[in-house]
Amino acid sequence: MNWLAEVEELLKGKTEGEVFEKATLHSLWKLMNSGLIDSFDFPISTGKEGNVFRARCKGKLLAVKIYRINTATFRSISKYLMYEPPAKVKRDRRSIIFAWAQKEFNNLKKLSQAGVRVPEPIAIEGNVIVMEYIGTEEQPAPLLKDAPLENAEEVFRKIKEYLRLMYHKAQLVHADFSEYNVLMHDEEPVIIDVGQTVRRDNPMAMEFLQRDVRNIARFFRKFIRIREEELMEYILEGENEICKNSN
Ligand SMILES: Nc1ncnc2c1ncn2[C@@H]1O[C@H](COP(=O)(O)OP(=O)(O)OP(=O)(O)O)[C@@H](O)[C@H]1O
Ligand SMILES: [Mg+2]
Repeated sequence: MNWLAEVEELLKGKTEGEVFEKATLHSLWKLMNSGLIDSFDFPISTGKEGNVFRARCKGKLLAVKIYRINTATFRSISKYLMYEPPAKVKRDRRSIIFAWAQKEFNNLKKLSQAGVRVPEPIAIEGNVIVMEYIGTEEQPAPLLKDAPLENAEEVFRKIKEYLRLMYHKAQLVHADFSEYNVLMHDEEPVIIDVGQTVRRDNPMAMEFLQRDVRNIARFFRKFIRIREEELMEYILEGENEICKNSN
């Protein structure tokens, strides 16, 4: 059996009839061949831009995010990349999607280094990102929007802190922040989906930050009293606090 057939076989029935592009199969094969992925368990999510799978490597659970090359949301990707053009990227669809995946991988690294709880990035190959899996053996962690919140105040406090670290230490703005892009694992918020995340010096950054703040304030307002302006101030004026804490 050739490698294409092997990987197709492995994923058969796990993507509801979807056929992967050749480039995707090639990336998956490379990752499997170099011992970074042993097997796939099940799809965690099938979205419009790609799929996320539960996978395994030497007994460890992994999450594998695969960006679809033939994506309908390609235009919105181009919009985000416009202000932060990656160096030396060809203008074809495949290269741009690869650059997009690379951007998400780099953002995960930067955020993790800044102390923001995100899935640890493990490997990248083309349009495929391998990262830490958040969840239990049985099921992936629920999104914040679906999770039972025992202590909304404490969760909000952590999220506020992460947004502040993101802005000052990683110098990034999430740009798609909401209860849909936070996983809840043992009452701990874990921030995901940082492909569209932009640098703080991006001309759109402030607009994106305002939208992020609006979204998360809207969600937490169901549980606690929140003023958007206060939250915005907390994030923007956090620099001194962060410096103090890291001394
Ligand atoms: N590391 C992970 N561990 C467990 N589950 C994850 C992980 N990363 C992503 N997921 C699950 O996969 C879903 C899609 O991931 P993500 O939000 O990064 O992709 P997306 O392409 O933006 O998809 P969507 O359009 O659904 O937001 C998430 O909502 C979450 O349920
Ligand atoms: Mg998402």
